[in-house]
Amino acid sequence: MKLQDLFPFLCIFFTITTAQTTIQPGTTLSASNPNQTWSSPNSTFYIGFSQVDSSSSYTLTINYNGGVPIWTAGNSTTTVNSEGSFQFLSSGNLRLLNGSGATVWDSNTTGRGVTTASLDEFGNLVLKNGTLPVWSSFDNPSDTIVPNQTLRVDQVLRSGSYSFRFLSSGNLTLKWNDSVEYWNQGNTSINANLTSPTLGLQPTGILSIFSAAFTSGPHVVAYSSDYGDVGTRLRFLKLDEDGNFKMYSTDIGSKTANMVWSALTDQCEVFGYCGNMGICSYNESSSSPICDCPSENFEPVDVNDSRQGCKRKAEIDSCPGNATMLEIDHAKFLTYEPELSAQIFYMGISACRSNCLSQGSACIASTSLSDGTGQCYAKPPGFISGYRNPALPSTSYVKVCGPALPNPPPGVLTVEKSRSGRFRFWVVCVAVAITLLGLIALESGLWWWCCRNSPKFDSLSAQYALLEYASGAPVQFSYKELQRSTKEFKEKLGAGGFGAVYKGVLANKEVVAVKQLEGIEQGEKQFRMEVATISSTHHLNLVRLIGFCSEGRHRLLVYEFMKNGSLDNFLFTTEEQSGRLLNWEQRFKIALGTAKGITYLHEECRDCIVHCDIKPENILLDENYKAKVSDFGLAKLINAKDHRYRTLTSVRGTRGYLAPEWLANLPITSKSDIYSYGMVLLEIVSGRRNFEVSAVTNRKKFSVWAHEEFEKGNVNAILDQRLTDQDVDMEQVTRAIQVSFWCIQEQPSQRPMMGKVVQMLEGIAEIERPPAPKAITESSTTSGTSIMSSNVSALTTFAASAPASSSSSSYQTMGVSPLASGRNIERASSSLLHSDPN
Ligand SMILES: *[C@@H]1O[C@H](CO)[C@@H](O)[C@H](O)[C@H]1NC(C)=O
Ligand SMILES: *[C@@H]1O[C@H](CO)[C@@H](O)[C@H](O)[C@H]1NC(C)=O
Ligand SMILES: *[C@@H]1O[C@H](CO)[C@@H](O)[C@H](O)[C@H]1NC(C)=O
Ligand SMILES: *[C@@H]1O[C@H](CO)[C@@H](O)[C@H](O)[C@H]1NC(C)=O
Ligand SMILES: *[C@@H]1O[C@H](CO)[C@@H](O)[C@H](O)[C@H]1NC(C)=O
Ligand SMILES: *[C@@H]1O[C@H](CO)[C@@H](O)[C@H](O)[C@H]1NC(C)=O
Ligand SMILES: *[C@@H]1O[C@H](CO)[C@@H](O)[C@H](O)[C@H]1NC(C)=O
Ligand SMILES: *[C@@H]1O[C@H](CO)[C@@H](O)[C@H](O)[C@H]1NC(C)=O
Ligand SMILES: *[C@@H]1O[C@H](CO)[C@@H](O)[C@H](O)[C@H]1NC(C)=O
Ligand SMILES: *[C@@H]1O[C@H](CO)[C@@H](O)[C@H](O)[C@H]1NC(C)=O
Ligand SMILES: *[C@@H]1O[C@H](CO)[C@@H](O)[C@H](O)[C@H]1NC(C)=O
Ligand SMILES: *[C@@H]1O[C@H](CO)[C@@H](O)[C@H](O)[C@H]1NC(C)=O
Repeated sequence: MKLQDLFPFLCIFFTITTAQTTIQPGTTLSASNPNQTWSSPNSTFYIGFSQVDSSSSYTLTINYNGGVPIWTAGNSTTTVNSEGSFQFLSSGNLRLLNGSGATVWDSNTTGRGVTTASLDEFGNLVLKNGTLPVWSSFDNPSDTIVPNQTLRVDQVLRSGSYSFRFLSSGNLTLKWNDSVEYWNQGNTSINANLTSPTLGLQPTGILSIFSAAFTSGPHVVAYSSDYGDVGTRLRFLKLDEDGNFKMYSTDIGSKTANMVWSALTDQCEVFGYCGNMGICSYNESSSSPICDCPSENFEPVDVNDSRQGCKRKAEIDSCPGNATMLEIDHAKFLTYEPELSAQIFYMGISACRSNCLSQGSACIASTSLSDGTGQCYAKPPGFISGYRNPALPSTSYVKVCGPALPNPPPGVLTVEKSRSGRFRFWVVCVAVAITLLGLIALESGLWWWCCRNSPKFDSLSAQYALLEYASGAPVQFSYKELQRSTKEFKEKLGAGGFGAVYKGVLANKEVVAVKQLEGIEQGEKQFRMEVATISSTHHLNLVRLIGFCSEGRHRLLVYEFMKNGSLDNFLFTTEEQSGRLLNWEQRFKIALGTAKGITYLHEECRDCIVHCDIKPENILLDENYKAKVSDFGLAKLINAKDHRYRTLTSVRGTRGYLAPEWLANLPITSKSDIYSYGMVLLEIVSGRRNFEVSAVTNRKKFSVWAHEEFEKGNVNAILDQRLTDQDVDMEQVTRAIQVSFWCIQEQPSQRPMMGKVVQMLEGIAEIERPPAPKAITESSTTSGTSIMSSNVSALTTFAASAPASSSSSSYQTMGVSPLASGRNIERASSSLLHSDPN
């Protein structure tokens, strides 16, 4: 289909979206008939009653086609019974009436000349005086923002005790009870009060700040993990009743929505999530938070709802004996740090406890930091929100009426235990303690017996580690050991898609790179299995895994240290640092080494691995500039279900290096790695990013322009200009360029296998003249046409009943930073990762 043919359709599209169904004054909806609704012209949105959790109460909401609500009259507690009704009165106001006749909500637009009401295709309910809007649901948000709706600084989203605000500084904040601020995110690159800023969501899933002060377009705050597809998908932002601000994504007709971004990645950091005196924590098996009471000195306010918090069984004022401090290890009280400096003291841990105890009613709880700062936070009477996590370096105290009862492990306190249960608990405790003591005695006896002649106990564990290391099996480290070897994670080498990497020195003086994995919530067993697979993969051109740590929630990997860092630092250096410029011979060796490493992953090892994220950042160079591929096998470790993981940095795959099948929802095979490698190879030759667009490249993507130049026989133009005055083997350069074009073919079947790539580079296998990498040529130009062409492909895919998706070219046009759609996360973690040798 030609572009011109599409214009009539596009025109129809726009006329329909601006059309509205009008609602006449005097119309009524009744709660007793949930089928009765007011729809937008295309039925994209509708207004109607929905039942609250199969109770007999109803709320009035505007919903997306399948029933996902985006606006509520009043708040979630504004409900009516089954005789309730919603009326558009001739006096010009909307009114929600209970069956008893009481008004529970009113738009208060009486006497403002309202003649019509309508619901548009964006989900906005508008009351108008003729054509002048008087009131709209977008202007009176409840807890949700949808695309085309904007939030101003004077508007607030509310849900229960929680509120979300957008400040004129460009910061976003979350508060509890309008007073306790538990989240405040800004961007230091905006450091002024903005003029009439607004917060808005683009349909593609990008949360941005708009302001007249920004000369270079909106300021991006967050991306959804499924960012990119538009089609019939709605993304919206919602302040949830759990106090977290989240982005959701839902398909038309669907009753449910998936979370695709959240403001707080750790739900336990939401103030008051577990109610007053409640303690939030996670257990090993689930990633959703648990609410508990601090100890048996407390009982739940509502046994059926642990989020209602806890109350003391005996009040401190009416305490028969003396008050005492209950100790809770690895716990803190929110907000942390406190907002008032008057609550911060500097003292030891026991003073932190006794000071609060002696302060009478002025202090009810305290937290002592065990990080060496000696800080102590005292809590005045009021709402107490606790968080317990083995990773927290602090001890907390709560004042209770003595004696302090033991605090059992998380998850068991919500149910009141019987006396016999308590008795059994003690018997078990004593038995465990006796066994432990016996074991410790035995162990230390043995230790003393075998080590009394050894000058240094420490060297034993180092020797042990060395032994294991030499055997090729991965060494298991304790978290403490790694903390020590990295000097408390002091020297950061970089931050990849899976977490930050730190430099460390092991007990045997070996320098290592320690990767602190984030968002890996896999069970211990599965993690160890993956570690075993990765560490059994040995090749000269793969970075070697030395060991790992799996302790509580900590998951770390220890790799050999690569002195020269990653390839991108050498290829894309801006200044003329000729010392860091790689010559052609080195580049060719790196290209060949990388290809050999990937060949091993794809074709030669026992459990074949598709890398999924080949890019210069993941190609490391040792002291001799030998290339080693890193981060292989990690994609499988991600648990896509973990909501705390969906952050911006975690998105797998990188635009520019992603094969087209990632975006077209086709199977991912080893051929997807070939595509990424082809792009990297082109960059090694040219020293330029493959997606770079500049005047030199006629405003085309570099990879596209390069093929055109190649067709003209202009190989010298593609070669890195910094190499032109050096001795370069032009035959090798031509081979490398041709191989890269073969690798970036749109059709996976046209791309060669990695083994073949190695042979072609080495000149063993013959290279045919590569055809143009087609898809890329189509989306080459950067003006509006590229959107059009992406629409063409989106429409054709849609006709073939696949979900419509935009191609990579539209990312380019939107000027968005390199990110892949969140679908990749799910796909990367699925079983597709094993290589399919086709
Ligand atoms: C609503 O529609 C459903 C299915 O279309 C029907 O089964 C149900 O009886 C209707 N309810 C009312 C109150 O009309
Ligand atoms: C509305 O419906 C028409 C006809 O079915 C369709 O062409 C158009 O794209 C729809 N508009 C929206 C916004 O869904
Ligand atoms: C609605 O009316 C019912 C009785 O008809 C009453 O029990 C309920 O409390 C009322 N709700 C509100 C919000 O007024
Ligand atoms: C309408 O006015 C009443 C009385 O002043 C007020 O209680 C209510 O909150 C107002 N409703 C809205 C939606 O602003
Ligand atoms: C409604 O709009 C007309 C002009 O379009 C204006 O003259 C009139 O005052 C408005 N009514 C009210 C109540 O504001
Ligand atoms: C919403 O969409 C309409 C129609 O495309 C447009 O006129 C209006 O400016 C948009 N509003 C916002 C706030 O984006
Ligand atoms: C809901 O709105 C009513 C009236 O505006 C208010 O009194 C009530 O506190 C709100 N409830 C919640 C949970 O925010
Ligand atoms: C919420 O804040 C108000 C005023 O700031 C205060 O009076 C009230 O006690 C607070 N609520 C709770 C539960 O602490
Ligand atoms: C905005 O957020 C930054 C941290 O992201 C914080 O340092 C700054 O104080 C905040 N500004 C305001 C006005 O809250
Ligand atoms: C922003 O405005 C607030 C209140 O109007 C003022 O206190 C603050 O100093 C201003 N900040 C800047 C950076 O102009
Ligand atoms: C701050 O804004 C700049 C420019 O939009 C962006 O590149 C950067 O990622 C932002 N930083 C954060 C922490 O959001
Ligand atoms: C309470 O404390 C005081 C002084 O610290 C002590 O004399 C008294 O015996 C204590 N009472 C009980 C019941 O422990």
